[in-house]
Amino acid sequence: MKKLIAGNWKMNMNREDAIKLAFSLVSFASESPKIDDKCDILLCPPFTYISQVKEICKDSVISVGAQDCSFHENGAYTGEISANMLYDIGCNYVIIGHSERRQYHGETDDIVLNKVCAARQEGLISIVCIGETKEERDKKKHEDIIISQLAASIPDGMNSQNIVIAYEPVWAIGTGKTASPDDVFDMHKLIRSELKSRFSDGSDIRILYGGSMKPDNAKQLLSIENVDGGLIGGASLKADQFTSIIQKA
Ligand code: 13P
Repeated sequence: MKKLIAGNWKMNMNREDAIKLAFSLVSFASESPKIDDKCDILLCPPFTYISQVKEICKDSVISVGAQDCSFHENGAYTGEISANMLYDIGCNYVIIGHSERRQYHGETDDIVLNKVCAARQEGLISIVCIGETKEERDKKKHEDIIISQLAASIPDGMNSQNIVIAYEPVWAIGTGKTASPDDVFDMHKLIRSELKSRFSDGSDIRILYGGSMKPDNAKQLLSIENVDGGLIGGASLKADQFTSIIQKA
């Protein structure tokens, strides 16, 4: 399966840095012939920079997405951004249910499911994040957590064209600690088997790994069976690091 390398910029960058980074990545992509035969590239900037980054990427193979959306279609929801607004400014993807949103904004599986439905309605591809905390892993509950998050946050009837799963162990995010290759293998295998048992094209749904993926561990992580790409935080903010990960993919 073609890999997807996605940069989640989170709440980082200013306008000038966002523009510079986008230009660097576009020139990298244009100098890398047929790169899109081997790998899809996605940038998810903060809402305020999406339009500008999209404009810079418009003639390139790089896609642009958002980090969240509302589950409401429109209306009196101060501060919210709808899936239709994202579609309207050229987004193809939206990250939903990142652990930082689950943790700091109280997003439940049910909210995540409703957001995925809203994104699907607008033709956006949802990247749904799942992952266990350190405490859950220590108590050996990680497999149960993943199974229940998958069951409760993914609506029925999804397919490989409108959903991507990102396995992001919470304890590996921004900590410099990655899950061991054996753990990644086991968790991705489990996710694959759940997807296959629920969706007719479950074997084609991409499963990304996220959590301290860097140039020096990307090759190993991306070569594990059922790892179909990466969702990258810190290393996506530096052009040299992000392009190095893309090259490994
Ligand atoms: P880091 O790559 O900074 O660990 O972040 C991973 C992540 O949360 C991507 O969504």
